[in-house]
Amino acid sequence: MKNTVHVALGARSYDVEIGPGLLAEAGARIAPLMKRRRVCVLTDETVARLHLEALRDGLAAAGITMEALALPPGEATKSWPHLERAVDWLLDQKVERNDIVVAFGGGVIGDLAGFAAAILRRGVRFVQIPTSLLAQVDSSVGGKTGINATHGKNLIGAFHQPSLVLADTSVLGTLTARDFLAGYGEVVKYGLLGDAAFFDWLEAQGPALAAGDMTARVEAVTRSVQMKADIVARDETEQGDRALLNLGHTFCHALEAATGYSDRLLHGEGVAIGCALAFELSARLGLCSQEDPSRVRAHLKAMGMKTDLSDIPGDLPDAVALVDLMAQDKKVVDGQLRFILARGIGKAFVTSDVPRAAVLSVLEDALATC
Ligand code: GLY
Repeated sequence: MKNTVHVALGARSYDVEIGPGLLAEAGARIAPLMKRRRVCVLTDETVARLHLEALRDGLAAAGITMEALALPPGEATKSWPHLERAVDWLLDQKVERNDIVVAFGGGVIGDLAGFAAAILRRGVRFVQIPTSLLAQVDSSVGGKTGINATHGKNLIGAFHQPSLVLADTSVLGTLTARDFLAGYGEVVKYGLLGDAAFFDWLEAQGPALAAGDMTARVEAVTRSVQMKADIVARDETEQGDRALLNLGHTFCHALEAATGYSDRLLHGEGVAIGCALAFELSARLGLCSQEDPSRVRAHLKAMGMKTDLSDIPGDLPDAVALVDLMAQDKKVVDGQLRFILARGIGKAFVTSDVPRAAVLSVLEDALATC
């Protein structure tokens, strides 16, 4: 039950391996990339406690030794001080241009370790071993790396493609239900943006997948990664189509900023709520039928996910303040907000042509239920 998705980027092409038990095979999978049989692993303390020994064993099986640095878990780690610590540690370990850095963790570690690899000695290769559902289906694939700035999320970074991604789906078994469902928000996003049949499949299989059905998990991760790989191969640096992957993200980034990037709202939860709002906005603009946002919300609710603004604990700012927060988003072009809207489920498109009044009215109505 293992699948391979190829990310076709010429000289920067790589494979994403998906399935249970890949940690045990990590050494055999990484060895062909190596000159010397030693890797430096950046991880977080939670992942280290749960899975680092399994990775060490998997590498040792192919004669590869491992040094590891475990950083604190959480979004605050995606910052200058932790990047500096990671880079200094890699230099202490005498990592050379031909060595491999391993990012072993969720989206925070993948982004930070990838950025450290991008800037260390003007770029060393790295392997992503994503441990959260969100990282397996989204952030470990496509080469976006970086850290957060005081001005906003992900504002400092580089495109730096990994040389290999190992998505061990058995590791998902140790995620909390909340973290799993937050990652599932990104899975739903793929169906909504470009594959209505996948959304139909998720409506049918989502509950089994959440309950731990491994076949369904491997299928969901594979279909998501395949879709991302196709989009990234067409548009690596987000000049066009890649922006489709940001469905729900303009709303999400404003909500994350409004909640202080805290535990009140996880990124994937914000994406799910953002997708529901993007479909609502699309329906109000006459682009899709009112049944579409209702169907999106019904699936999120059936999965027990955060769906509405009222599901976010604590107070939120008013609609004007939320739209102002959207204007901080790095996807703003010439001062114009860019939205991903939809002509139906699976039919998303990018536009800057969205009246501010329409966005305000969707947010005002959504806030009225809080
Ligand atoms: N997470 C969106 C992208 O990789 O483009």
